[in-house]
Amino acid sequence: MNGGDNKDILILAIESSCDETAASVVKNGRYVLSNIISSQIALHTLYGGVVPEIASRKHIENIDSVIQQALKEANVTLDDIDAIGVTYGPGLVGALLVGLAEAKALAFATDKPLVGVHHIEGHISANYIQNVNFEPPYMALVVSGGHTNLVYVSDYGKFEIMGATRDDAAGEAFDKVARVIGMGYPGGPKIEKAARNGNKDAIQFPHVFLEDGSYDFSFSGLKSAVLNYVNKMKMTGQKIVPEDVAASFQYSVIDVLVKKTIKSAKEKGITKIAMAGGVASNSTLREAMKAACDKNGFSLNIPAPILCTDNAAMIGSAAYYEYIAGRRDGLELNAVPNLKLGERI
Ligand code: KG4
Ligand code: ZN
Repeated sequence: MNGGDNKDILILAIESSCDETAASVVKNGRYVLSNIISSQIALHTLYGGVVPEIASRKHIENIDSVIQQALKEANVTLDDIDAIGVTYGPGLVGALLVGLAEAKALAFATDKPLVGVHHIEGHISANYIQNVNFEPPYMALVVSGGHTNLVYVSDYGKFEIMGATRDDAAGEAFDKVARVIGMGYPGGPKIEKAARNGNKDAIQFPHVFLEDGSYDFSFSGLKSAVLNYVNKMKMTGQKIVPEDVAASFQYSVIDVLVKKTIKSAKEKGITKIAMAGGVASNSTLREAMKAACDKNGFSLNIPAPILCTDNAAMIGSAAYYEYIAGRRDGLELNAVPNLKLGERI
């Protein structure tokens, strides 16, 4: 790393907003030198979902070694790092605070700049890592456990929310339906796997598009429809075929996500689509979006599955673009559990 105008910028990024303790070193916002993820999923599975208090404690236990590993694997020391990026919202407050306190302590001890990152801006930025030539403007479908958004990204860090879920997020719907049909947590990957052996046309669940022209989403009605179906079958002594329920449910979600994404891009007159968030690792959704993009002559960028679910490399990419745009945070930066995308706190 030499001086001069073209010096590489290395970000040490930290992510702890939910049930993954993660740290990463990212070069120039695009090149991942290390990406360490310590998942707590196995632990939370025992309880059927994320237990916030347990998540915070596990983050505390793991964060130091995760950061050490990230530096070691990147073959750098803290001296080589230009700035420390950290997720400060949205997420579980106790979980966020662990990563944030660590990032602040490191920034203070090393006298390096601190850059707070919005978790969803991170998810979207995973696209810059996946494809080093990928640039705004584009339409991003963000589908995670806590969020479902159609976001028009006009430039780095510039977001226009075209639509959002009015109730459950897409990932949340996968998790809840998985519970109803006895598949456990986390539901997404389990539903995807079961759906491969099911018939998507077996059960007619609602495909909820809301009012004409709306880019919002609603998945709670679909969740209730699955619940009602399962109860009705039980009460009439009929056996459900979990694979068919999974496939039919998944089809309802994917159909709406794909159609609304294509429509919103058309409205904005753009032909570049991106996907982000844990649900974007779903291969059936990826295939359906690809087919729709091909049909419309749109290009599609999707991060590899490991960059779709929570990780710190995506936070490092977002932090880089915030850093070069001049964002610097003080040690008073606090966790903001319901932070809005594009909001500066
Ligand atoms: O982005 P993420 O890792 O964490 C949040 O920021 O929420 O997303 C987690 C969500 C969970 O609801 C999980 O069930 C879902 O993403 N998910 C999937 C798949 N893998 C993870 N949903 C559908 N299909 C998958 N293969
Ligand atoms: Zn996430």
